[in-house]
Amino acid sequence: MTKAFYVTTPIYYVNAEPHIGHAYTTIVADVLNRFHRFMGCETFFLTGTDEHGDKIVQAASAAGVEPREYVDRISGIFRSTWPRLNISHDHFIRTTDPDHVRTVQYILRKVHDAGEIYFSSYKGLYCVGCERFYTERELVDGRCPDHDTEPVEREEANYFFRMSRYQSWLIDYVESHPDFIRPERYRNEVLAFLREPLEDLCISRPVERLSWGIPLPFDDRYVTYVWFDALINYVSALGYPDGGAYGRYWPVVQHLIAKDILKPHGIYWPTMLKAAGIAPYRHLNVHGYWKINEGKMSKSKGTVVRPLELAETYGVDAFRYFLLREMVFGLDAGFSEEALVQRLNADLANDLGNLFSRTLAMTAKYVDGRVPPFGSGLEEPETDLMGQLEVTRRQFQEEIPKLGFHKALMSIWESLNAANKYVDSVGPWNLAKDPERRPRLLTVIRSLLELNRVVAALVSPFMPETAEKMLQRLGITRKAPDLRFDEDTRWGGLREGVAVVKGDALFPRVELKTVQAAPPGPGASSASESASIPSEPLLEEAIPFELFQRVDLRAGIVKEAEVVPKSKKLLRLIVDIGEERQVVAGIAQDYTPEEMVGKQVIVVANLQPARLMGIESRGMVLAVRDGKALRLVTTGEPVAPGRRVS
Ligand code: MSP
Repeated sequence: MTKAFYVTTPIYYVNAEPHIGHAYTTIVADVLNRFHRFMGCETFFLTGTDEHGDKIVQAASAAGVEPREYVDRISGIFRSTWPRLNISHDHFIRTTDPDHVRTVQYILRKVHDAGEIYFSSYKGLYCVGCERFYTERELVDGRCPDHDTEPVEREEANYFFRMSRYQSWLIDYVESHPDFIRPERYRNEVLAFLREPLEDLCISRPVERLSWGIPLPFDDRYVTYVWFDALINYVSALGYPDGGAYGRYWPVVQHLIAKDILKPHGIYWPTMLKAAGIAPYRHLNVHGYWKINEGKMSKSKGTVVRPLELAETYGVDAFRYFLLREMVFGLDAGFSEEALVQRLNADLANDLGNLFSRTLAMTAKYVDGRVPPFGSGLEEPETDLMGQLEVTRRQFQEEIPKLGFHKALMSIWESLNAANKYVDSVGPWNLAKDPERRPRLLTVIRSLLELNRVVAALVSPFMPETAEKMLQRLGITRKAPDLRFDEDTRWGGLREGVAVVKGDALFPRVELKTVQAAPPGPGASSASESASIPSEPLLEEAIPFELFQRVDLRAGIVKEAEVVPKSKKLLRLIVDIGEERQVVAGIAQDYTPEEMVGKQVIVVANLQPARLMGIESRGMVLAVRDGKALRLVTTGEPVAPGRRVS
């Protein structure tokens, strides 16, 4: 039976719109999910929104709408954001979903029936921002460590979960399961919390103070307190207690969170599960914060980074790659657009993009654009390259399950660097000069194509669109989710004779200056040309339509063509554009006279005549420069000479 894999993100509060922090956790979950599918597991990926509680009521009232309308709106924004970052979740849960409400009430009743929930009066220091009571010890200089505000004194009769009873069980469990909470620094933090006496957990609010919540099944004067409601989403989404998905995916779950919500996930949740008779989760994976200018993101400082704007400006895959490559999972990382642009240009445009372009260009030039056979036996340079790729395959398999995303990517880049060096050292262009070394040339091109194919498959969990694009150009039409590590990363898997497609640069180089000036939103791309191609400004100044109309563009057919004597670049053409015109065109390096005769071209017919190498030219043939190659502009279907182009 295939292995089951289940990954969750926190369910995000709907009092703010998605920012880079939410995007990071969700992209990490997506990469893990895609990785496990790639390894052949049956996977389930859950994300969603947390919609009850004081904070939400306050945000709704600030927006001047009812909570229901407000949560629908913001939850909708989260839901529509994720597909645009290529997030492949299987289910989006909302704590206002009736199925979730039923499961929360079921668990509350079960734990209450077991005598683990009791009613009592409580007086303490309460932080409104956190929606919870604080102990003196938890406060920093008498203030909430998260909000830096002074908690207010509050007395209330409420329901309590007997969390204290589970303290020694939890200590034993964490100590005997070293990977239960990881990385280790967060496991140590939880053990440090547990060195102090664990108090019981207040799990309710009276309805008169908070009606926007789930009513307790045993006392409808109260609703559940935020964590008892929210944490249960991880099992309610599976249909607990009797859904088939629950049987399949619990308890193999991997929770992903940032350090802000370590305590609820590291302490409340395992003890709640224990009390409800549910097996503990498999792993709690905790990451650090993305910081802006060394500080927390803040609305008032204008440092909230919006993921969609970045993805639209730089491309979804470049954004995903940057987040996973830049942050060491578990530690904080600084975000800056400069760093993103630097990685895009260096790692993606140069290392990955250039190797791919070089490989395809050489395939087109030397072996007719088709996958060649290995022409000769593999020699040391190839076995070295394969050895490096083997190391990468192993590190990829080992590091990703341990959350070492940056290490897995670094290892892929070691293979790319090795391949770029391989090209420079074997020099296919020299092999191409000697017909006797053709078998060797075939082996070199084939090896490079193989490496690119394996790399495409390996980057697929991180950059699914890029992986598909690369494979498609290599003649493989597979969707990223259908790729499998075992089949798709083995050396030699390409089919001989299949045509490859040169195409555009995978990652056009980006100039930071243009990017910063670019207004956000679709179409704001500042992408210029490929790494090896000089960039061109995207647009000229706008002109009125009437001015454009004054350019007389005509469809033509080339009747005669010859090389202009003593010129490397010029061809003299006679073109039929309803009348015969002599045109001198600078296309001799890309087109032979024989190729030109009979070609359909587009001619600028009303250019003032010019003399080139002493020959009069009355018009200009349109062409596009694509890197080193020049391509004639032509019509899709044949048209009669002299027709106007508009
Ligand atoms: N609703 C609760 C979670 C309930 S889970 C049962 C909540 N929501 S939240 O909207 O505040 O999301 C917190 C999570 O967002 C963090 O744990 C992390 O996943 C992500 N991040 C928010 N800010 C972040 C950074 N600055 N950096 C990295 N991740 C951050 O807490």
